[in-house]
Amino acid sequence: MKALITGGAGFIGSHITATLASKGVEVVVVDDLSMGKKENIKGLKGVTFLKADVRNKEFMHELLKKEKFDYVLFLAAIASVADSVDRPMMTHSINQEAVLDTLDFIRQSKLSIKKFLFTSSAAVYGNAPELPKKENSTIDPQTPYAIDKFASERYVIDYGKLYDMPTVCVRFFNVYGPRQNPSSPYSGVISIITKCLMEGKTFTMYGDGSQTRDFIFIDDVSDAVVSLLENSKSPDVFNIARGEENSLNQLISTYEKVSGKKLSVDYQAERGGDIKRSVADVSKLTGTGFRPKVSLEDGLDIYWQYNQVRGMRK
Ligand code: NAD
Ligand code: UD1
Repeated sequence: MKALITGGAGFIGSHITATLASKGVEVVVVDDLSMGKKENIKGLKGVTFLKADVRNKEFMHELLKKEKFDYVLFLAAIASVADSVDRPMMTHSINQEAVLDTLDFIRQSKLSIKKFLFTSSAAVYGNAPELPKKENSTIDPQTPYAIDKFASERYVIDYGKLYDMPTVCVRFFNVYGPRQNPSSPYSGVISIITKCLMEGKTFTMYGDGSQTRDFIFIDDVSDAVVSLLENSKSPDVFNIARGEENSLNQLISTYEKVSGKKLSVDYQAERGGDIKRSVADVSKLTGTGFRPKVSLEDGLDIYWQYNQVRGMRK
């Protein structure tokens, strides 16, 4: 078995790469290292790394034709919602155009794949009032990031239906854990809080901290993705979350307990397009037989201990 993972040197991609490699799958990672790091996949058996931009059509087409992948997992993206609000055209070219081009090249070239998996986001639900979010809940994208994720998702699902391609989309809620890159102001909030706790710095809270998220530990996410590669009927879409709602204030209080440290917080105005409440209905995912295992408290503990031993990455 051979898999292509775009964005495979990034946070989530590097874990999926490791999980697939451990199952004996040959993995080719394409990443431009804008956020990812080569060290994230260093030493993994059967993994080839290629530094390239997924918008480079010639490169991507040649690679797809040459390697004849069984699985194509499209993770490369600008993962920050806030960054998409600042740079909508740039993020669109990666988060939507590159996905569609790859998908359409597979269609046109009649490449025989076992699954095309696209990583969408809980951001597509926006602030629509229904909670918890089911896969068929109202979609209400608030930002260029969410619009691009939903558009790409629809292409992936509809290519599945129109052209009989085996496709699946996963809507990740808020993923955290080792290797999440904390170095940008756009980084995931738990990686930023961890850095602040470790370095004794003040955390900037956008809003009053009552906004909620459904946080899920990275190991559960990579296991869910690998399970859905094999166990999902095509085409389909799944929430990937724990199904638990925590406000940022609750998150901070749990993390203070786990780390034994007090976080200094500076409250600022909320970010434009920020989602107020986010929590998933995970019955479709659990219906496949998959169950997330790691509680928020345990996941924070594992992440905290990991950073104590390894030092937080700059
Ligand atoms: P990440 O930034 O660590 O991973 C994205 C990877 O894509 C990085 O390694 C980056 O270098 C690479 N990349 C960016 N632009 C590229 C380009 N033009 N060409 C090639 N590579 C490029 O972020 P992540 O958190 O690991 O996110 C992975 C995927 O999951 C993304 O599609 C993201 O939108 C999605 N997602 C993440 C979360 C989350 O909570 N982290 C939630 C929902 C969805
Ligand atoms: C995150 C992911 C996004 C994913 C979405 C799914 C990242 C960078 N973003 O977006 O890819 O699609 O989940 O739900 O991984 N905050 C602060 N201070 C900070 C940073 C953040 O207060 O320094 C706040 C934000 O305003 C927001 C919350 O923390 O209210 C979460 O922010 P963030 O981690 O960026 O996640 P999402 O925007 O939910």
